[in-house]
Amino acid sequence: MPEGQTEKPLYIPLILGTPRQGRQSEHVAMFLLSEIRKRPEIETELIDVRALKMTLSDAGREMQDPEYAKKILRADGLVIVVPEYNHGYPGLLKHALDMCLDEYIHKAVGFCGVSAGPFGGSRVIENLLPVVRELGLVATSTDLNFSKVQDAFDDAGRLTDEKYVGRAAKFLNELVWMTRVLRYGRETIPPL
Ligand SMILES: Cc1cc2nc3c(=O)[nH]c(=O)nc-3n(C[C@H](O)[C@H](O)[C@H](O)COP(=O)(O)O)c2cc1C
Repeated sequence: MPEGQTEKPLYIPLILGTPRQGRQSEHVAMFLLSEIRKRPEIETELIDVRALKMTLSDAGREMQDPEYAKKILRADGLVIVVPEYNHGYPGLLKHALDMCLDEYIHKAVGFCGVSAGPFGGSRVIENLLPVVRELGLVATSTDLNFSKVQDAFDDAGRLTDEKYVGRAAKFLNELVWMTRVLRYGRETIPPL
């Protein structure tokens, strides 16, 4: 970006990928949203899979929630907060992601994995990579991993382990860079 020129904010919504009652991932999502909101270069909002209008009697674009599609079309990038369920992703997150296709193409995605165990959702992230690739998203390599998430927040959802602040900054720096690069590409370089 040339000096003196102002950048249109990057619109990077955050998808909270589980509807489970008592989900710890909600604490993670709220923490990360507050870190994102400290950055004037990003505009964000929460997309909660629990709140999406989805039917279970169909799948894919045929049952698309138009509000979701509008947000994904507008998005420059995405954050996905995903808990690990039996090493995989929650079915409802996949059901939600499947509602769009073209709207994702050449946009950045950063993963925040959440687990009760010691691996910080790294296995669920590995499992989501082929899915987002098929959707046309471009994943960053700098994940954010919350292992033993039950120890990272108090009962009120306040972060108890400050190390995550620096980790979130690193995660967001890479996502912002990738989001900028891909937006520049989409806006200025015609597809071959
Ligand atoms: C169906 C199910 C499967 C789970 N499988 C795993 C797992 O494979 N590895 C793990 O570390 N934690 C596992 N957990 C624990 C979650 O990671 C834990 O609930 C954590 O708090 C994140 O999920 P949450 O947002 O639903 O709370 C599982 C939880 C559920 C409900």
